Amino acid sequence: CGIVGYLGSRPAGPILLEGLHRLEYRGYDSAGIAVVHRGRLKVTKAAVRVDELRELVGKGTSSTVGIAHTRWATHGEPTDANAHPHVDASGRIAVVHNGIIENAEVLRKKLTATGVEFVSDTDTEALAHLIAAEREVADTLEDAVRAALRGVDGAYGVVVLDLREPDELVVARNGSPIVLGIGDGEMFVASDVAALVRHTQRVVYLDDGELATITKDDFRTSTLQARRTAKTPTTVDVAEDDYQLGEFADFMRKEMHEQPEAVRRALMGRLDERFSTAHLGGIELDARALRSIRRVKFLGCGSAYYAGQLGANLVEEWARLPADAEPASEFRYRNPVVDPDTLYVAVSQSGETLDTLAAVQELKRKGGRVIGMVNVVGSAIARECGSGVFLHAGPEVSVASTKAVTNMSVCFAMLALLLGRVRDLSVANGRRLVDALAELPAQIDAILADEEQIIRAAERFSAAEHMFFIGRVRGWPVAREGAQKLKEISYVHAEAYQAAELKHGPLALIDERMPSVVLVPDDELLAKNLGTIEQIKARGGPVIAVTNAELPDGLADVVLTVPRSEPELDPLLFAIPLQLFAYHLAAQLGRDIDKPRNLAKSVTVE
Ligand code: G6P
Repeated sequence: CGIVGYLGSRPAGPILLEGLHRLEYRGYDSAGIAVVHRGRLKVTKAAVRVDELRELVGKGTSSTVGIAHTRWATHGEPTDANAHPHVDASGRIAVVHNGIIENAEVLRKKLTATGVEFVSDTDTEALAHLIAAEREVADTLEDAVRAALRGVDGAYGVVVLDLREPDELVVARNGSPIVLGIGDGEMFVASDVAALVRHTQRVVYLDDGELATITKDDFRTSTLQARRTAKTPTTVDVAEDDYQLGEFADFMRKEMHEQPEAVRRALMGRLDERFSTAHLGGIELDARALRSIRRVKFLGCGSAYYAGQLGANLVEEWARLPADAEPASEFRYRNPVVDPDTLYVAVSQSGETLDTLAAVQELKRKGGRVIGMVNVVGSAIARECGSGVFLHAGPEVSVASTKAVTNMSVCFAMLALLLGRVRDLSVANGRRLVDALAELPAQIDAILADEEQIIRAAERFSAAEHMFFIGRVRGWPVAREGAQKLKEISYVHAEAYQAAELKHGPLALIDERMPSVVLVPDDELLAKNLGTIEQIKARGGPVIAVTNAELPDGLADVVLTVPRSEPELDPLLFAIPLQLFAYHLAAQLGRDIDKPRNLAKSVTVE
């Protein structure tokens, strides 16, 4: 799941361990490191947290080269033996690997037949043996890695260290991110810039099917077919501070509090008051091309999918175009009808989610029109899409996404506005929405300033074992995202339901032990939503109403108030108290909020 490599003049151990620590947020179950010590590879690895690995490594060595890894189990249980780095039988070649090698079983059988004994259940170990075998016949380590990878099907980001050539590392990428960090007389490799921004901001992103050999002063890149490639380093606009907690106890709370600023950044330079529209420079379509779009489909996973649903509602409302959202994983596997008049929007915070990337690739193969809405610049999905809109939320560390999801919704709103304004959305209506969008940062600020009301609600319901999140039409994606947040960080079972569907089944579950969070925006469906609350109360169910309306006294047990926006944008604001509610409830239960069990920040496996 996380890769770090170092080559330079400083001791590698502390740099690698610190790098792993920066990648902890992505989720992992074991960790390991390999350095060169007294002419041998010294590998320390175990199913432990990075802090414990640090203790196992002890004072370490003066090795100025090394590779390290945090693993999220795919092939084989999270055990010490399965942790990376993996080393070949002769103890010469060490490998760290992200991704999945699909023909690992075949490779394993072949290698076993030649007498290789496996010591782990991983697919990566096969790679170590394979590279070692190729090293016997190849001129360089790079050639050996290239030859080995040509026989490998699947996804990988790998870093290879050869004991006998400690002045270089060979790295390769296919479907799993690898970035080189260029220092002054030292080089870094990582799966995520978070691990290296402390040392350098000059980076090179490898492309799929590309290899690099790095020395402490230089790097050279080539393809799997041994064709040289030219890469120009770019500067990442990410500061070390973005990965520091500052005054906050965890990243989720820090990132929720960064939302007003994040939204301001997303809106910056994109709202056009004069013509009541939005400018999204990354969408390279003129008015005529925009008008030719007949349908919009959002594709993403997890929270990005729910945000896409919110975006689809906005497109339907403002542009009067049919729009929907679908989990990218479903889309890619069901042989979808790809329609040339549809605008496909691939949505992702990390830009790495494999299912979303695969959906984009399938779309491109079928001639679909796809744009990206991605947070991480230089990420695989952003590059694969070629054009799109960056979310500008800044680095997001917490597994549970908050500011990135909010910025997704804000960017969808601007897309919907743009599509609306080339159709029937009037200047006056456009103006109303431009003004409302510009208000959002201050309104989010107001919700955050009123965190106390949410803390009290979370305290009151922290013993609940199950909860409903009820929304209707505009509120439905928000309810889904609210339920998701609660599940993932508090482990309390939560289910989202459309308000009117309650009476078709779930109402049977309502009693005094089943609280419902009900979204009650002050819009044309207010009376309907009040009716929903009555139905729940009549069955003894406690109700937490999230609202910007004046509710009749005593109707709900708890009322969480939200500032009033334009009705179409209410859902963006209603999502914020639900994040805070999940957060404070999880905090009450003492959960490890930034690292929920079993989850990873970006899922680069199928
Ligand atoms: C993981 C994360 C979720 C996230 C989803 C999609 O499951 O835990 O928080 O919503 O992936 O991630 P992406 O980076 O594509 O937005």
